[in-house]
Amino acid sequence: MNQDIELFDTKGVDSTALPSKFRDQRSRIEVSRTKSSNRSLELSKKTSAEKALDYVRDGMILGLGTGSTVRYFIEGLGGKIKDDNIRITGIPTSIATKKLAENLGISLSSLREHPVIDLDVDGADEIDSKFNLIKGGGGAHTMEKIVANASKEFIVIADYTKIVKELGNFPVPVEIYPDKLRFVINELREIGGSPKLRENFKTDNGNIIIDTKFEIKNPEELEDRINSISGVIDNGIFSKRIPEIVIVGYGNEVKILHRKKWTKKANSRNYRRL
Ligand code: 5RP
Repeated sequence: MNQDIELFDTKGVDSTALPSKFRDQRSRIEVSRTKSSNRSLELSKKTSAEKALDYVRDGMILGLGTGSTVRYFIEGLGGKIKDDNIRITGIPTSIATKKLAENLGISLSSLREHPVIDLDVDGADEIDSKFNLIKGGGGAHTMEKIVANASKEFIVIADYTKIVKELGNFPVPVEIYPDKLRFVINELREIGGSPKLRENFKTDNGNIIIDTKFEIKNPEELEDRINSISGVIDNGIFSKRIPEIVIVGYGNEVKILHRKKWTKKANSRNYRRL
């Protein structure tokens, strides 16, 4: 993982919310990062997830992402629904999320019933300074992208290790129709990727994943290029529907990053066309 805090201060990212403890103390952050234990990583995930609960309002249709960070959010949501006596309808992005939410008594529905989602909360594997993402470490990126696209607001929650200068250290997950494996592998190599089949893994849609390392100079171009290969269902680059807000956990503190309107072309959001 790239460990560079500086990207928080680049154009287009609101760095004013940097926790005071970390303000102007980058060397301290670097030190704390290199020493970071799994425990502090879990705490960072939990802190960012719990902060996202502040954005949840009574009556919302809520996109529920997938992964270990989102798990903290969903657990917190279960408590918030009871404590605050609010009504929430969740739209899960995976079978794992659906099961977790059901166990916590969270009401669920589908995009068919609710094609417009008020808020989507999801994790990410990498986040660059323009809020482009790589997702799909859990193999759920196809549904996650569909749900993000249907959402009025998209919040990404993440521990600090997910912040990178440029995407590409994490291989891009590419969900494909299984019979096209050999063809897609060749095509991915053709466009500069180093593809590797994810072993013993099937997506919720019954497909397979090819994790593909790329040097990513232009995330938008690459997202389109990969998706234009016959047999590809979707890939884990999110360069079109990027989040409005990224909540980054640093131990028990968070930084809330707001996307500035001028940093990126308008998101392609399906709900606008409904
Ligand atoms: C699943 C995802 C996850 O959001 C992503 O992998 C981050 O997961 P975690 O919070 O466990 O690090 O895209 O498909």
